[in-house]
Amino acid sequence: MSAQRSVFPQIDPDEVSSNPSGNRPFREVAARALSRRSVLAGGAVAAAGFLVAGGGTAPAAAAAPAAPAGTPGRGGSRPFLGFTPVPTSDADALTVPDGYETQVLIPWGTPIRPGGPAWRKDAANSAADQAEQIGMNHDGMHFFPLGRGSEQNRRGMLVLNHEYIDQQLLFPDGDAEITPEKVAKALAAHGVSVVEIAAGRDGRWQVVDSPRARRVTAATPVTFSGPVGANHPALRANTAPQGTINNCSHGVTPWGTYLACEENFNAYFGTEDPDWEPTPQQARYGINREGFGYRWHEADPRFDVAVNGNELNRFGWVVEIDPMNPRATPVKRTALGRIKHEGCEITEARGRVVAYTGDDQDGDYIYKFVGSAPWRAQRALGRSPLDHGTLYVARFDDDGTGRWLPLTHGKGPLTKANGWADQADVLLRTREAADALGATPMDRPEWIAVNPRNQDVYCTLTNGSGRGGAANPRTPNPYGHIIRWSEKNGDNTATTFDWDIFVLAGDPAYDDRTELTEENRFGSPDGLWFDPDGRLWILTDVSNSSQNLPEKGYDHIGNNQMLAADPRTGEIRRFLTGPRGAEITGVITTPDQRTMFVNVQHPGEATVAWGEPTPENPRAVSNWPDFDPQGRPRSATVVIRRTDGGRIGA
Ligand code: FEO
Ligand code: CA
Ligand code: CA
Repeated sequence: MSAQRSVFPQIDPDEVSSNPSGNRPFREVAARALSRRSVLAGGAVAAAGFLVAGGGTAPAAAAAPAAPAGTPGRGGSRPFLGFTPVPTSDADALTVPDGYETQVLIPWGTPIRPGGPAWRKDAANSAADQAEQIGMNHDGMHFFPLGRGSEQNRRGMLVLNHEYIDQQLLFPDGDAEITPEKVAKALAAHGVSVVEIAAGRDGRWQVVDSPRARRVTAATPVTFSGPVGANHPALRANTAPQGTINNCSHGVTPWGTYLACEENFNAYFGTEDPDWEPTPQQARYGINREGFGYRWHEADPRFDVAVNGNELNRFGWVVEIDPMNPRATPVKRTALGRIKHEGCEITEARGRVVAYTGDDQDGDYIYKFVGSAPWRAQRALGRSPLDHGTLYVARFDDDGTGRWLPLTHGKGPLTKANGWADQADVLLRTREAADALGATPMDRPEWIAVNPRNQDVYCTLTNGSGRGGAANPRTPNPYGHIIRWSEKNGDNTATTFDWDIFVLAGDPAYDDRTELTEENRFGSPDGLWFDPDGRLWILTDVSNSSQNLPEKGYDHIGNNQMLAADPRTGEIRRFLTGPRGAEITGVITTPDQRTMFVNVQHPGEATVAWGEPTPENPRAVSNWPDFDPQGRPRSATVVIRRTDGGRIGA
C-alpha cells in the first residue's frame, strides 16, 4: 500500500515507526567487510560485490551482462531473462516488452459471476452490489488450477486480496459524509475475491459461472484457531467475529488453501471521545484517533476504539480461506502472531510447514513459524499444521549471521514474572514480545519469497530509517533493498542463518551506492515472487508522496514497475511499467508459465506529482484501464502472454 488518504499524502503511515524498544543489538560489533554472496550462491558466481557492514555497500546485483545461463533444466536455448527491458515511464499506461500482449481482467466492480450486478461507472453501486463484485485495490493473488493435465493452464480459481479503498473513487460523493450504507459498501469492497476464470480458444481469459465463486469481505463471519481461541476474552466485542481487512499479500499452503494477511488494521479505527487514549499495547500497533481518516466510527460503533476496543484484537492475523469450498468459514490462525502481516510465504522442510512473514512498519521485524510436526501427520490427526508450532523473530547480526528467537511463553524474558500471562498473551502482543527478545528493527519488511532451487529466502525492505544495523545499511533508506538469507544446512526449520544483501535499490544519479542502470533502476521494492524456474520477480510500491518527484530522488524511476532478476548472477531487467498513481502488487502464472496474472493497484490515487481525484473529476490522475471520459480509474488484474505462446520472462 502507499498512501490511503484522500488528501495529498506527505508521508505514508507505515513510514512512521511505532517501535519504541530501541532494539539495536550488537551496535558495538566492529564494522568489517565480508562476503556471504559466494556462500549463498553456492560458489557459482564470482563475489563481485560484498557488504561492508554499517557503511558502503557494493552489491553484485545490478547491471550484469546478459545472463550466461539458459533456463535451468530446459536446454538453455534462451537466456534466463529473455526479454528486452522496457524503459521507465510516467505515462498513464501499462507497458510490457516487445513480443508480449496484455488483457485487462476483473477490474474493481466486475461481477464475480456472469449476470451479477453490473459495474456502474458513476460509483452508484450499492453495498449489496459490491458484495457480489470484485473489490477495490487488488493485492496478493494466487491461481489454483482446476481440471487435469493441460486444462490446468486454461481454467482455475483466481483468489486475490483487496487491500484498502479510496473513498473518493468508491462513492459518488467521495467521503463527504460517512453513513451506515457507505460503511457497508466500504466493508464489501475489502477482503478477498474468489472467482473462476477460463481461457477461450483465442487465449483470452474471462470470468465463468462457478459454484465456488465468493467474496470474503470485512463483514463475513470468521473464526479463530490456535492459542488465541475463538472464546478468548480479548476477542469479545460488540458483534460476533466478522471480517478481514487490509489484506495485503498472501500465502498458499501445501494442502491447497489461501492465506490472506491482515496488514494496516490499526488504520480503520478511530473515535471522537476526547478522553480516549491508546494503551501502550495499542500504541505499539499504531492505534490512534484518526487512522487512515476513513471515519467509519462516525457511523458504525464497531470501529470506535473508545466503545469497542476489543475489536482491535480481532485483526492483525493470517486468515486461512478454502478457495474450493465457499461455505468454509475463514479461520484466523493465531499461532502465526498478531502483527501488520505483509504476507505469509510458506515452504516445507523436513515435512514441516515453515511460514515467513514480515511486519511492515519502519523498525519492525521479520518472523517465521515452524510447525511442531510434519504437516501431513498433523492433518491426519485432524489438526491444522498452522495451529501447532513455534513462532520466531529474526535477529540479523552485523557479522552476516542471524538467529531466530522463539516467541514462546516461559522462555527468555517472556515469563509470568515479566507480565506475560500465557502463549495467547505473547501472540496478542507479538510486537512487544519481539521487542523484549531483541529482534532487529528492519526497513519495513514487505514480501518474502523462497527460491525453489536452493531454499534461500529473500525479503523486500521497501524503505525506512535504517536503524537496524548492517542488514539495513543506509540511514535513511528512501529506496529500499532486498535482503536474503540461507538457513543453516539449507534447512528452513533451522534457528541460525547467514545473510547478505541481494540488491540496494535506487537511482545512481542520487546515490552512488546503488549499481542499478537505466534498464533496471527502481525504488521501494514490495512484491516478490519466484516463478518455478527460479526467476525472481520484483514489484515496486513507490509511495505517492515520492513517485516521479525530483526532490525525493524519484524523477528518473518513473511509475511503479515490475522487474525480473536472476538470483544467481544478480542481473535485473525491467519487465513492466504501470499507470499513474498505481503500484504493482500480486503476480502469479499458470503452471506452464505461459499466462501471467499481475495486479495493478490504486491507479489514479492522489499523488503529489499528478494531483488528486475528486467526486467531480475522479480521472484527475489516471483513467486506466477503461479510459472512459465519464468513468473512473480501477484496480485490475492484467493477463500477460507472449505472442509466440512461450514462457513468461524466458
Ligand atoms: Fe500492503 Fe506493506 O504493503
Ligand atoms: Ca505491499
Ligand atoms: Ca508497500
